[in-house]
Amino acid sequence: MSRYSRIAGTGSYLPPRRVTNQDLAAELATRGIETSDDWIVERTGIRARHFVDAGVNVSDLAAEACRRALEAAGREAASVDLIIVATSTPDMVFPSSAAILQHKLGIAGCPAFDVQAVCSGFVYALTVADAMIRTGSASRALVVGAEVFSRILDFDDRTTCVLFGDGAGAVVLEASDEPGILATDLHADGKHVGILCVPGTVAGGKVLGDPFVKMDGQAVFKLAVGVLEDSARATLAKAGRTDADIDWLIPHQANIRIMQGTARKLKLPLDKLVVTVDQHGNTSAASIPLALDAAVREGKVRRGDTVMLEGVGGGFTWGAVLLDF
Ligand code: UT7
Repeated sequence: MSRYSRIAGTGSYLPPRRVTNQDLAAELATRGIETSDDWIVERTGIRARHFVDAGVNVSDLAAEACRRALEAAGREAASVDLIIVATSTPDMVFPSSAAILQHKLGIAGCPAFDVQAVCSGFVYALTVADAMIRTGSASRALVVGAEVFSRILDFDDRTTCVLFGDGAGAVVLEASDEPGILATDLHADGKHVGILCVPGTVAGGKVLGDPFVKMDGQAVFKLAVGVLEDSARATLAKAGRTDADIDWLIPHQANIRIMQGTARKLKLPLDKLVVTVDQHGNTSAASIPLALDAAVREGKVRRGDTVMLEGVGGGFTWGAVLLDF
């Protein structure tokens, strides 16, 4: 009998402080920075995002998302034997946010580690967890995407600070006789490091370099549109499926224009595209599990539906996961 991995439950958490485009524009105006709801909505589709308050870390958001995913799956934290957190905004330089999360969930002993692939982090983490479950290294995993991007935004740079938000999403992924995850596809090309990065680091007790998000938006946009289509097609081919089999497309939520462009290339009607970027902004590694959980709780994604998850971001990294929910 074959061994697969399958999502048993989803959960997510947004910090309570909701900041609309109007709120942000008013705040930026006090710094002499001009932006508007019209510009942000027209160029990105974003209307609001959530920001954490001081002292709230990635592991706090992740812990709440995991509790909700465990509850949805009807599983106890004690039964989890693997924790993977995708994040680019960890609590500390080390240890991993996954280790801190494990303790916050009141468990100990199972492997726990972070995956760093920026906005592709969740598809990377899901791929690793799927491989570990299929090979018998784990039986029940918490796979999490969690970010506090507000900590690395330069609020004097209107080209980036209006785009991102904070949040966390999680799935319980467990061994199953039935798929589950049908196929995965991951890529990276490090020659594009400079188009999306936080170039700072910590050394000698100081921050070296610039610890804020830098992005060449147009270069990222052009690369994203091409690789998302390629990766979706490669994943479908590996699974022996076609674009007509996709019930729901859940891409990384960065820009509604990129997401709709990908749906059109896959010949999917736009009502099969799950959109949360309007309410969440770009939450990097958290965006896909946040959108998945929203779609499940709204009754859109149902058991048996075929779902394409797609990530793209800094590195440059990209990839996709096709699954039967
Ligand atoms: O999460 C990883 C993946 N990331 C992405 O997928 C992001 C991909 N890129 C994008 O989504 C878009 O490139 C952006 C939303 C970042 C920018 O949209 P754009 O249509 O490429 O705008 P642009 O950079 O060409 O800027 C157009 C104009 C510029 O003014 P000029 O030079 O035409 O006078 C900018 O200075 O818009 C100006 N601008 C703004 N105006 C008001 C840039 N940011 C703002 C702002 N408010 N916040």
